[in-house]
Amino acid sequence: MTRSTLTVAAAAALALGALATPLATQAQQPAKLKVGFMLPYTGTFAALGVAIENGFRLHLAEQGGKLGGREVEIVKVDDESDPSKATDNVNKLIKRDEVDVVVGTVHSGVAMAMAKVAKDTGTLLIVPNAGADAVTGPMCAPNIFRSSFSNWQPAYAMGEVAAKRGHKKVMTITWKYAAGDESVGGFKEAFEKNGGQVTKSLNLPFPGVEFQALLTEIAAAKPDAVYAFFSGGGAVKFLKDYAAAGLPKTVPLYGPGFLTDGILEAAGDVSQGMVTTLHYADGLNTPRDNAFRLAYAKAYKLQPDVFAVQGYDAAQMLGAGLKAVGGDTTKKPQLIAAIEAAQIESPRGPFKLSKAHNPVQDIYIRKVDGKVNQVTGIAIKALADPARGCRL
Ligand code: BEZ
Repeated sequence: MTRSTLTVAAAAALALGALATPLATQAQQPAKLKVGFMLPYTGTFAALGVAIENGFRLHLAEQGGKLGGREVEIVKVDDESDPSKATDNVNKLIKRDEVDVVVGTVHSGVAMAMAKVAKDTGTLLIVPNAGADAVTGPMCAPNIFRSSFSNWQPAYAMGEVAAKRGHKKVMTITWKYAAGDESVGGFKEAFEKNGGQVTKSLNLPFPGVEFQALLTEIAAAKPDAVYAFFSGGGAVKFLKDYAAAGLPKTVPLYGPGFLTDGILEAAGDVSQGMVTTLHYADGLNTPRDNAFRLAYAKAYKLQPDVFAVQGYDAAQMLGAGLKAVGGDTTKKPQLIAAIEAAQIESPRGPFKLSKAHNPVQDIYIRKVDGKVNQVTGIAIKALADPARGCRL
């Protein structure tokens, strides 16, 4: 080698050396973890989708934007709470965007379509609201988890509460879809076991708000009480129409807490004094919940609701799994085992998951007082969904 070629070679080696450190550093940076949010951002459940996303992002921010040591990139799809578009929407996230995990959704019918795709593809799915009993029942799978509730849980608790309050004959009213049917089913199961009777079940198509004829039927039948499942924008309209029909004075209204959570500002005074049951409440006054509420209010200039808590806990569950595998999602059995074993320090109170991957949790009794769903007691402690049909 001549002197000049040596110099050129040495210079090149030096240049490579100079580059070597940053390249190596870059190579060690794990790829971003892609999280697909499939949530409603339009329609009657839009505010619920936003609250879930807010909650998830709050936990992520508290972890410095990383879960299991990996930076997180969020990809979003608006599912419009439309089951007919659900399979295409979830496939966009899994096949087109190649997400590592899907978080969604609110609507039970959409969630069941998502669970089928998750089961078929093996993609990790965390359901941050939809209570479809089937998701942690016959459709249960190692890669499917829920951070929220089953439709049966708060409804069953309300059936016991309504019976204890001395009601004998109750009518029910809801949207005709899985969540409405299952909520009424859970309520009826406990209410009739405790001596009550559901005299008639009324319903209307999702997401309809033409309640007038059904309210006229309730007024004519004069039941002891009504049990209703609605949520989001539809719940606001229902509560206003129920009040406008003059019913609250003679026929007390009950429901799972979705009926009054996140909507008290919009509903005005129409639900004052209403009693509901849910796995979250205002006024829990635990250090964990107080810290969460303060952080949420600071970040979003809003009070959190149950949907925000469920989003926050979906991120906590994912974080617990990823931490155990150092962010390596290819170690799926270990990741799943870590979520299964985790105790989630939720604002609602600590919980663990059932064998079917649904939270085992206290169901609170709450009463609407001004603009809050104030906790007044615990209806049932550590209530586990029966997970009928799950073979895990
Ligand atoms: C559901 O479809 O499962 C659901 C929607 C809103 C609130 C609660 C449950």
